[in-house]
Amino acid sequence: MKQDTQPLPWLNLPNLPLPLKALFVGYLLVIGIGLCMAGLQIMLTHGMADGKFGLSVNDIVYSYYGDRSGTKLASKLNGSMSDKAPLEVREDIIKWAQLGAPQDQWESHYKQIFAQHCVMCHSNIPGIPDFTKYEEVKARAEVNEGATISGLTRVSHIHLFGISFIFFFIGLIFSFAVHVPKMAKIIAIAFPFAFLIVDVMSWWLTKWSPHFAWLTIIGGIGYSLASTYMWVVSMYQMLILPRNGKIYGNAWAQDL
Ligand code: HEC
Repeated sequence: MKQDTQPLPWLNLPNLPLPLKALFVGYLLVIGIGLCMAGLQIMLTHGMADGKFGLSVNDIVYSYYGDRSGTKLASKLNGSMSDKAPLEVREDIIKWAQLGAPQDQWESHYKQIFAQHCVMCHSNIPGIPDFTKYEEVKARAEVNEGATISGLTRVSHIHLFGISFIFFFIGLIFSFAVHVPKMAKIIAIAFPFAFLIVDVMSWWLTKWSPHFAWLTIIGGIGYSLASTYMWVVSMYQMLILPRNGKIYGNAWAQDL
């Protein structure tokens, strides 16, 4: 319409000056790779929390709420360590763990049991607990309560500060898009922030009750979808759309 009289008619993704485009494209490329890595890392850490590959509600419960039905020692002795000692021995150890692994019985009895069945690996293989040491056994005999409050505060504030920066710039770049209805723009820009809050809140709620674990998944899917949408539209409009040589007018003025 009045594009000729608009100020800054080049202020839109297809017509941006090349140096600015280089900045935006470079940023989106690096952020895109970073987000893929983040997804992969979530799969490998939280995704494996319940011992099976792939992220599930169980993993989230395990990471934040823990497994309060028993101790790590018991779950391993019933699981991947079940072939390491005969049943009576394993039940004996589990009973001791349920009592809180009292130290006097360690000295008089269990030290010997562990030495016989476990220590050939658990003192030699790096990266697994050393079961010649009482403290290391004791730590696995405690009920797994999932994430700690101090751990959650640390990850929460890093997440909120760090990721809101990413969404801020993705949203700012996307605000120069053309042919996107104003309402769609507002929703796409606001969603990641809203879902980020849902995500972080869901960790705290899951720490309190396992029923909230699905909120974490919704939060994650929500901001992944919204930011992927903005990423794809922005890249397309900066790299492919300009080939038709059209002038699109001031994108911000059109959203007034
Ligand atoms: C043949 C070697 C070997 C023997 C014997 C062995 N373990 Fe393990 N254990 C491992 C390996 C390897 C891991 C790490 C992989 C895993 O978690 O399954 C592990 C992990 C564990 C863990 C989890 C540690 C953690 O904090 O992640 C516990 C608990 C455990 N073993 C208990 C035992 C007990 C109790 C015995 C003796 C009855 C035992 N293991 C005997 C090799 C062994």
